[in-house]
Amino acid sequence: MALNQTNPTTTKAWKKLTQHYLDSKELHLKELFSDHPKRIEDFSFAWNDFFFDFSKNRITKETVQLLLQLAEEVRLKDAVSKYFHGDLINETEDRAVLHTALRAKKDDNIIVDGKNVMPEVIGVRNHIKNFCDAVINGDKKGFTGKTFTDVVNIGIGGSDLGPAMVTEALKFYKNHLKMHFVSNVDGDHVREILRELNPETTLFVVVSKTFTTQETLSNATTIKKWFLKHAEQGDIAKHFAAVSTNTEKIAEFGIAEDNVFPMWDWVGGRFSLWSAVGISIALAVGYDNFQSLLDGANEMDRHFEESEFSSNIPVLMALISVWYNNFYKAETEAIIPYTQYLSRFSAYLQQGIMESNGKSVDRQGNPVAYETGTIIWGEPGTNSQHAFFQLIHQGTKLIPTDFIGFKQSLYGDVDHHNKLMANFFAQTEALMNGKTEEEVIEELREKGIPEEEALKLTPFKIFHGNKPTNTLLIEKLTPKSLGALIALYEHKIFVQGVIWNIFSYDQWGVELGKQLAGTILKDIEGSDIAIHDSSTTTLLQNFKN
Ligand code: F6P
Repeated sequence: MALNQTNPTTTKAWKKLTQHYLDSKELHLKELFSDHPKRIEDFSFAWNDFFFDFSKNRITKETVQLLLQLAEEVRLKDAVSKYFHGDLINETEDRAVLHTALRAKKDDNIIVDGKNVMPEVIGVRNHIKNFCDAVINGDKKGFTGKTFTDVVNIGIGGSDLGPAMVTEALKFYKNHLKMHFVSNVDGDHVREILRELNPETTLFVVVSKTFTTQETLSNATTIKKWFLKHAEQGDIAKHFAAVSTNTEKIAEFGIAEDNVFPMWDWVGGRFSLWSAVGISIALAVGYDNFQSLLDGANEMDRHFEESEFSSNIPVLMALISVWYNNFYKAETEAIIPYTQYLSRFSAYLQQGIMESNGKSVDRQGNPVAYETGTIIWGEPGTNSQHAFFQLIHQGTKLIPTDFIGFKQSLYGDVDHHNKLMANFFAQTEALMNGKTEEEVIEELREKGIPEEEALKLTPFKIFHGNKPTNTLLIEKLTPKSLGALIALYEHKIFVQGVIWNIFSYDQWGVELGKQLAGTILKDIEGSDIAIHDSSTTTLLQNFKN
């Protein structure tokens, strides 16, 4: 069954929110806290080893109640049920959206086209486990009988970002295998990686849902040629594995049947790290850790599907983001993890969020007259504090920011961790409170700055504050908590797509550039240049000369 098609701006809640915004937009977070010293109790809760604090947002109880009413009017509850039960909610591609099945429990029943998909999902999980165990423990060997030391993941977009982000995030849990990721069609990328490799001890995993992606096939072909300079055609079976829905194309590439891992069209590329696309993760940290990642995501799935919306982390995060995006007209959101392990987290979420909700046509095919997908960016703290935080604190733009921190560090270095977390808490407090004119003058006086000079400096040192943040304080970065954290953002994407009445699970917008690249490649490789605009023609002539 299709998703409901309500234009959110026609709901009663939207109209009330519009008025509520006008009535409440001047409120300052500082006042909200001073008026209600126990505000935290209304706007925070614990779930498993997560503590979610959304009190430092420009919201009141009325805001939350109206946003929840909006969720009800667009029939979010019904949409959630369709999402988890395999309805064809990816209508423009006529597919279900079931990455949640990939982390479901063995005995769950998840029906797609009248068939329970779980036996197949479990079959592939077992295959991943056996394959990874054999590579890690050395039972599987290369063509000269040596055990594997290096693994190269060849893929792009969802076939690269998820595995690369998680492998980096779980580095602490890693085994001896050295991981490499080749994604860009830029030949220098693949050449730099090949320089480090020994063909006798390297395993290559070609990951492509479609197995037609130009970048991945070019890189895989270049790597295969390089490998064959050192080995025989028959050795490919020992050194190459592949993950795809397109098993025919894999066979053409020459990969042994045993090393082929299927996936399904009901898994979107950007949500696929839970499938065999995550094989590099399982190779890097072992299958048990990979399973814990799935288990953590499954726990978040249960929370999202079963909790009341008023105490549901993905729902509340999505609604608060809609509040800023559509009423405050905030253009971007920052995601700042306070751990170096999550250095790729924002880049990973950029695909998930921006490829999903970067749409301007609603579910009826009409252009939307309101803002949809948010622009996502971020880098780990504290590095980001010394880079772009100035603009968040004192710039002209409102940038709602998610702060993600962990109570424990992994190596247990208390001194460093206390400093890191002091910064984590200090930033959200500073963003909220800012610094008033009086405070600035007082501070300058205390420093003995002459009055005249102090008055001159004051305007530049004022921080208006009132900058909204969410805080997720998590016990420890483990495969399980990471799985839950990723799933949280996946569900936030879903909720926002439902509210904005758009299709979140296609990505037609990336197709045009791909098509034109095909045409232009002919111009570059052939003798003539087809007709383009004068800019493109001149650039091409310049490139060819
Ligand atoms: O960039 C578009 C896209 O289709 C992504 O959605 C996908 O993750 C990526 O290309 C790679 O696709 P594939 O896994 O089919 O090679």
